[in-house]
Amino acid sequence: MMNQTWWKEAVVYQIYPRSFQDTSGNGVGDLRGIIERLDHVKALGVDVIWLSPVYESPNDDNGYDIADYRAIMAEFGTMADFDELLNGIHTRGMKLIMDLVANHTSDEHAWFEESRASKDNDKRDYYIWKPGVEGPDGVMRPPTNWGSFFSGPAWEFDAATGEYYLHLFTRKQPDLNWENPAVRKEIADVVEFWLEKGVDGFRMDVISLISKRGYTDTPHEQFNDTIANVYANGPRVHEFLQELYKNVISKYDVMTVGEGPGIDLNEGPSYVHEDRGELNMIFHFGHMFMDQGPGGKFDPVPIDFRRFKEVFVEWDQAMADGGWNSVFLCNHDFPRAVSRFGNDGPYWKESATLLATLLMTMRGTPYVYQGEEIGMTNVAFDAIDDYRDVETLNAYNEQVLEGGRDAGDFIRAVHIMGRDNVRTPMQWDDSARAGFCAEDVEPWIDLNPNYDRINVAAQMDDPESIFAYYKKAIAFRKAHKGLVYNDVDVWTLEDEQLFCFLRPGTTNGAKNGFDSYAVLLNMSDEPAEVLLPGRIILSEHLFSNLSNQSTKPTTTSSMTLMSWEASIWKYHGN
Ligand code: NOJ
Repeated sequence: MMNQTWWKEAVVYQIYPRSFQDTSGNGVGDLRGIIERLDHVKALGVDVIWLSPVYESPNDDNGYDIADYRAIMAEFGTMADFDELLNGIHTRGMKLIMDLVANHTSDEHAWFEESRASKDNDKRDYYIWKPGVEGPDGVMRPPTNWGSFFSGPAWEFDAATGEYYLHLFTRKQPDLNWENPAVRKEIADVVEFWLEKGVDGFRMDVISLISKRGYTDTPHEQFNDTIANVYANGPRVHEFLQELYKNVISKYDVMTVGEGPGIDLNEGPSYVHEDRGELNMIFHFGHMFMDQGPGGKFDPVPIDFRRFKEVFVEWDQAMADGGWNSVFLCNHDFPRAVSRFGNDGPYWKESATLLATLLMTMRGTPYVYQGEEIGMTNVAFDAIDDYRDVETLNAYNEQVLEGGRDAGDFIRAVHIMGRDNVRTPMQWDDSARAGFCAEDVEPWIDLNPNYDRINVAAQMDDPESIFAYYKKAIAFRKAHKGLVYNDVDVWTLEDEQLFCFLRPGTTNGAKNGFDSYAVLLNMSDEPAEVLLPGRIILSEHLFSNLSNQSTKPTTTSSMTLMSWEASIWKYHGN
C-alpha cells in the first residue's frame, strides 16, 4: 500500500494572476483581486492554490521572466498584499504553492546585467556564454544549431562582449548556469526566503532542463525530439534537485511539483520516487503534446483517443511503485480542456463534467485550472493583433511573415493550440467586462465573447451547473480515499468511445481497507454499450454527471451510457 500523505489527497487550483481579477484599474489581474475571490476558490473545496509567477518581471513571458525573485511585480501589488493573500489562504484552511522559475531569469535581472557587462565580471558564469563558431562561408554562427521553444535560435549574440548567451525560451529569458555552485546557492536562498514566509511549496518551471548535456548540435528534425534527447534530463539534474531538497526543502512540510518537458516513462520515477529526495511529483506532457503534428505546436492533429487512455495507464503504472502522479487536463500553456478533450458545442456541460469526473477519479493529485470549474472554452480571435502570447507572436513572425505560411491557416491553428485560449480573463458575470475589471477599463487581453453565457454568477446558485458538479466531484473524491490510493485497472483501451476503469480496494490481492470503484466514462457524442468485466458485480450507483443517469445496469454484464455520461459505482469482486 502506498504511503498516505496530505499532498496526495489534496486537490490543487491554479491561478494565472494576470487573468483572474483586476482591482487596481489597469486591466491586469492583481493580488488584491485574488484576495477578493478567495471565497470562490474555497467554495470549490480545493486544498492548495498554485499561483503562477507574481515576481518583478518585464513580462516578456508574463512573469516567467523574473527580474527579482524577492519582489512582487508592481502591476500585481505589493509584498504587503502578498502577505495578506497568504494569510487569507491559510485562514481558510488552504495552502499556497509558488511558481519557481529557476532555469532562467529575465535579461533585466541584476545578475544578468552584471553578467553581460564584461567577461571578467564575477557574475559572468551565472549564465551560459559561448563564443560563436565560424561557418564554412566564413560567417560567424551561434555555438550550436539549437532552436528555442519560442521560435528562432536559442543563442543570442551580445555585442558588449562579443559572445552568445543561451536562452531556451525568449531572448529575454537567459538560462542560468546551474553548474556554478554560486547559482545553486542563490536559488536555494530564494526557495528558503519564500518557505520562511510560510508558503507551502513550489511548482518548478521546466525543471527537467536545468542541467545541460554539453553543447553539440542537435541531430533531430522534430523539436520535441530535441527537447527529450538534447535539452532535458541532463547528467546532473538529479544531483541538483537532491541538493536543493537536502539543504532546504526537506526542512519544511511542503509539496513540490516539477514541470517536466522531455521526461519520459523511464525517467519520470527518478524525479519523484519517495526514496530519492527530489520532488513529490512532476507534470509529464504525454497527453499535452499528443495532438502536435510534424510541424510542432501550431500544426495540430486530432486527439488519438486510444493513445490518450494509454498515457494515463502508462504513467499510472510507472509511478505505482513509490512514485506519485499529478493529474491535469489543462494549465496556462495548453488549450481549454473542454474544447480539447470534450465537446464545447452541444455537449458542453456533459463533457465538462465528465472531464471533472476523470480528474477526480484517477490516481494522482488533481489540478484544476482557473475557469475549468465553469467550463470556460477556447477563444477564436480573428486577428493576430488580438493575441498577446510571445509564443504565438514569435511563431507568427517565423511561420507567416518570414516563412510564407497562410495567415488564416496559422490563426486557425492558434484557435486550437494557442496559449491565449486559457489566458482570456476569468468570466465572473455577464456585465461588460465579465466582472474581471471595471467597465471603463480595457483588459490586457480581450474577453472570450461567450462570457455572457459562461460565467460564475450564472452557475453559482444552480445545482445542475458545472461549478456545482466540480464541488460535488471534489467532495466525492475526498469522501472516498480509495479514489486517491487504489490501483487503476483500465479495461476499455481499444474502445473508440469508452474510458472505463476499476479502482480495486485490494493491493497485491489483499484487501487494503478501501472500497472498490468502477468508473465508466463515455467520451463520445453517441451512446455506448459498456461490457462489464465478468469478475465484478456493480453493487451500488454512487455518482453521475447526468440528472437522468443510467443508475441500473441493463443486465448483470452490460449497461448503456448516454453521450458523455460519467458514472461511478461501487463493485464487488476483483
Ligand atoms: C513553462 C511555463 O509554464 C510557460 O508558461 C513558460 O513560458 C515557460 N516554462 C518558460 O518559463
